[in-house]
Amino acid sequence: MDATHRPVISATGLYTPPETVTNAELVDSFNEYVRRHNAEHADAIAAGNRPALEPSSVEFIEKASGIKSRHVVDKASVLDPGTMCPRIPERANDELSIMAEVGVTAARQALERAGRAPGQVDAVLCAASNMQRAYPAMAIEIQHALGIDGFGFDMNVACSSATFGIQTAADYIRAGNARSVLVVSPEITSGHLNWRDRDSHFIFGDVATAVLVEDAELAPADHWDILGTKLKTVFSNNIRNNFGFLNRAAPEGAGQPDKLFVQEGRKVFKEVVPMVAAMIVEEADRLGIDPRSLRRLWLHQANAGMNRLIAQKVLGHEASEDESPTVLDTYANTSSAGSIIAFHQHSGDLVAGDTGIICSFGAGYSAGTVFVRKAG
Ligand code: COA
Repeated sequence: MDATHRPVISATGLYTPPETVTNAELVDSFNEYVRRHNAEHADAIAAGNRPALEPSSVEFIEKASGIKSRHVVDKASVLDPGTMCPRIPERANDELSIMAEVGVTAARQALERAGRAPGQVDAVLCAASNMQRAYPAMAIEIQHALGIDGFGFDMNVACSSATFGIQTAADYIRAGNARSVLVVSPEITSGHLNWRDRDSHFIFGDVATAVLVEDAELAPADHWDILGTKLKTVFSNNIRNNFGFLNRAAPEGAGQPDKLFVQEGRKVFKEVVPMVAAMIVEEADRLGIDPRSLRRLWLHQANAGMNRLIAQKVLGHEASEDESPTVLDTYANTSSAGSIIAFHQHSGDLVAGDTGIICSFGAGYSAGTVFVRKAG
């Protein structure tokens, strides 16, 4: 079979953890933590030596973010006011690690949907905002578990990891270095979320997605042509996580909140919306596509208000749910997986010739666009 060097999306896969946490459950747990904390420190608070913690509210969460519930890998521990962190027991080195496990489940679905045997895949990219260990790469473990010959490596561009992974995979195909590449995004965000932080305790959810990017020659008829990919990064401290391998070299900072996800949400909102809207419009222009003609926007799923504004700027009118589908109401922010979940769940009804965009944005700042057209 000849290679066309033309990258397409052959199929996607999704793994959703069975347990969900509603805002009401989350707020009950958080407020119990606040009650206990304030009772424990009552004297210091009364003496003005320590601020009292404020309770959270379901109304605030829904209004500010659009999130109603999220999936998590360990509900009991994140909701236990004495723990407020997932508990995932360590596994032996010869057992599949949890990130690989959820990634493999999503990847298998993508392979099945494409009718692809693992032996035909050339590379695996594990593109996610956190890796469970330094090495060996999660991607190589996933590659091994699936029985793929070839190569794999990890890449982390925070919320934009999946779109950066798609462009990387597409570039391998364009260059002729691979014909079938799996981009796997296992996002166990409950591990980096500070469940005790009122400003952000509601933000994230767990999931895994997979995207099979292939040479058009190899792809099933029912694929998505990749019309163009564009990546952008602009340094910002407004979303930051200082967790890293040098933490042990500064033990005074161990366990501090900055070793988990921290953000200036309002600044992120204000700065990222115009950046992403302009990027989509410029890239559409470069590709000779009228942005107002886009049939569907599969946007990063962090905040319903951000998506409403971006979609409005791109389409020139308030987007309907059909034009810009929401998954963050039930998945919350799943970091790099969000726009892929939206694409996975809301692309089956589109017909040959329909053009849309997968778009991610987040920490870095980082943003990625993938313009796709349904083949047929
Ligand atoms: N419950 C009740 N009230 C809360 C609260 C909570 N859990 N958290 C914050 N508040 C209060 C604040 O104290 C503040 O009160 P004040 O006005 O009296 O000072 C008020 O609500 C507004 O807080 P703010 O943090 O400014 O809220 P916001 O409207 O900016 O919404 C986010 C917060 C995080 C939902 C929003 O900023 C956001 O989604 N930003 C973009 C995030 C993003 O995309 N990040 C990318 C990560 S990948």
